[in-house]
Amino acid sequence: MDGVWNENVPVLMVDAGDLFGRRSKDEKHQTEFLCQMTGDLGYDGIGLGERDLNYGLPFLREMIEQNGLPFTNANVRDAKTGELILPEYLIVERNGIKYGLVSVLDPALKIITMTATEAEFTVDDPVAVMRELVPRLREKADCIVLLGHLGENNTEPLIREVKGIDISVTGHTFRNLQTERVLDDTAMFTATHEGRYIGRANLFIEEGTGRVMAIDVGITSLDDKVSSDAEMQAKVDQYKKELVEYKEAKRAAYPRNLGSDKEQFLSERACMSCHEDAWKSYVGSPHRTAFAAIRNKGQSSEPECLSCHTTGYMYKNGYSTEAPGSKLINVQCEACHGYGSEHARDGKWVAQAKDSCVVCHDQKNSPEFDYATYWEKIKH
Ligand code: HEC
Ligand code: HEC
Ligand code: HEC
Ligand code: HEC
Repeated sequence: MDGVWNENVPVLMVDAGDLFGRRSKDEKHQTEFLCQMTGDLGYDGIGLGERDLNYGLPFLREMIEQNGLPFTNANVRDAKTGELILPEYLIVERNGIKYGLVSVLDPALKIITMTATEAEFTVDDPVAVMRELVPRLREKADCIVLLGHLGENNTEPLIREVKGIDISVTGHTFRNLQTERVLDDTAMFTATHEGRYIGRANLFIEEGTGRVMAIDVGITSLDDKVSSDAEMQAKVDQYKKELVEYKEAKRAAYPRNLGSDKEQFLSERACMSCHEDAWKSYVGSPHRTAFAAIRNKGQSSEPECLSCHTTGYMYKNGYSTEAPGSKLINVQCEACHGYGSEHARDGKWVAQAKDSCVVCHDQKNSPEFDYATYWEKIKH
């Protein structure tokens, strides 16, 4: 960007959405840093992607306010109030030309926030919204730029249906289209995903009318050939250090110090062959899907959830996030019965299992827990 700014040409900097990370607390932490850095770069407009709501609307608003991020969207509404959640469009003036920046989200892209228990948003039909909005925007802007978060497949039909869009930057696309395409009167291009590329479009705009006369697009891969900016690199290094500390502090709250180094969890498969009845009852129980419950909430690497939704998280040789694809996901036999390598046959294991329930079924997570009624549901 320094290179571009040094050319002293008017620059319009836009993004077509999905700036935010996946639904996990670690990525939320990273997203805060990413938003600061994005704010530093000084974008003119950012279209809303469904991922940008991963951590809820209050978090998005906080990021917008703290970092001056110019998010815009014309078809996502608060389900309760019916109001648009972001400015409907943005007008940015460069060299006497007024650019109208507008963004719509594909309703098929599910918005799932980490915080919500019910649907919070409604998404209007992009074509209908744009049909109504473009003529209105034309009165205020010379050149209309769509930051469509629609993927490739839905961008083209919209452009065919709605006349008057000058430039379309396609969001939610994973293909690297090296050049622009011109469809009817609209120049379309994309900068692909994950900030791994930066797209540059040189626009030749007719003075006075704002009409795009010619366009020339290039995509640069931000690989090792592009040297790092020293100031940015220092910030990234500093952040990476903080991130390690942050993760370590979280893990430290759930130390792996119970049990013994000498014992092993053998995993559920090891018990199946000899205990068929117990196996049958277990496979149908919610304990067998406990990991999916936290994964669905985007929290499958959070110590505060893993302690109860996996096997032996706080035990030596127990479930570990450092060993992905661990055999010890879910609340397996050994979560209640203890290390399989110990295999007791003196009634000790039965007693221990009875006491195990309330470690996880505590007041906060299982307020209705009652041994007799709960055991009835998983008995074996
Ligand atoms: C102290 C143990 C414990 C911790 C910690 C814990 N859970 Fe749970 N969780 C449970 C128990 C026990 C149940 C079953 C409650 C019941 O039905 O009585 C449960 C149920 C759930 C369910 C409902 C399952 C379903 O299929 O509907 C979800 C979702 C869930 N937990 C997510 C989480 C997340 C996310 C975290 C971390 C933020 C977490 N839990 C932390 C013990 C725990
Ligand atoms: C949620 C905790 C829990 C899980 C998971 C669990 N068990 Fe148990 N299991 C118990 C409890 C509690 C008892 C004792 C019940 C009683 O006698 O009141 C028990 C009893 C048993 C017994 C003794 C039965 C008898 O009557 O002698 C065997 C064998 C057994 N479990 C094997 C398994 C196997 C194998 C698995 C996994 C496929 C498994 N259990 C999963 C809690 C659990
Ligand atoms: C090679 C066969 C075999 C395997 C594998 C095996 N068990 Fe057992 N288990 C037995 C036998 C035999 C007994 C004693 C007779 C009985 O109670 O069924 C027993 C007893 C038990 C009991 C009752 C113990 C007590 O203290 O009274 C539990 C609980 C149990 N097994 C759990 C497991 C779990 C959990 C696993 C997997 C980690 C497992 N077993 C693997 C054969 C096996
Ligand atoms: C290691 C933690 C852990 C232990 C120990 C544990 N549970 Fe659970 N239990 C869970 C979690 C987590 C869930 C929720 C799983 C889900 O729905 O995804 C759950 C769910 C259940 C459910 C289903 C609840 C429902 O609303 O349908 C029953 C029943 C249950 N447990 C009984 C028991 C009993 C009885 C014991 C003791 C013998 C026990 N559990 C021990 C973690 C545990």
